[in-house]
Amino acid sequence: MTTRLVIANWKMNGDLALIDAMAQAYPQSSKVDVVVVPPSLYVAALLAAAKNRFQVGLQDIGQHQGGAHTGELAATMAAELGVAAVIVGHSERRSDNAEDDAVVAVKAHRALEAGLMPVICVGESIEERQAGQAEARVRAQVEAQAENLVGGRAVAIAYEPIWAIGTGASASAEEAVAMHRAIRHALEQIAPDHADGIRILYGGSVNAENAAGLFAHVEIEGVLVGGASLDTDQFAAIIRAAEAAQG
Ligand code: PGA
Repeated sequence: MTTRLVIANWKMNGDLALIDAMAQAYPQSSKVDVVVVPPSLYVAALLAAAKNRFQVGLQDIGQHQGGAHTGELAATMAAELGVAAVIVGHSERRSDNAEDDAVVAVKAHRALEAGLMPVICVGESIEERQAGQAEARVRAQVEAQAENLVGGRAVAIAYEPIWAIGTGASASAEEAVAMHRAIRHALEQIAPDHADGIRILYGGSVNAENAAGLFAHVEIEGVLVGGASLDTDQFAAIIRAAEAAQG
């Protein structure tokens, strides 16, 4: 069975006290992969606190390899520090920073060439869902990443319906499973030799209460957790739910 992947996305939250609390609270998990993604400023402190019990990621990465780009971070710098993964194309970056699929593809490429795992976020708006366009929208977002999917390197796709992010209204397990199947189908067409190795995660109001119901489905190969990842007890409970499903 695929090893489930549980990712904490702190967004623009957290501080040194939270890093201490997380370092104490996280169980060492041998059954599932855990990646904690703090604001970039805290990456070094979190790496020191993690002591290899979990991996550390970035919330975004620069499009360039380096040079005169004030304020940007290069994937190679993250890799040098020991960062394992980079979230790219989160809907908050797509809307706040006008990042389109082409920009997201460049960022995922930068991550891959530095040896980092890109966690590529896709997802439809409520208007697209209500118009019956959710699957077509998500499929187009996945297809835009084709060049990053055919190389056989570690990649994850995070299905995050925009209407479920930070709202407390998670997609139902059935809605998530249906979309994960559609994404799996697209991956098999785009990268027939490597689709099996690409994990499909769900994100959007995942918490300690609904995690087990999501993990009950083999299609849910991991979760990307925002708000609930800031609560050490909740996040530990989500890790335990993933482990229980792993068997
Ligand atoms: P949420 O955020 O868990 O707070 O809904 C998820 C995400 O944006 O990755």
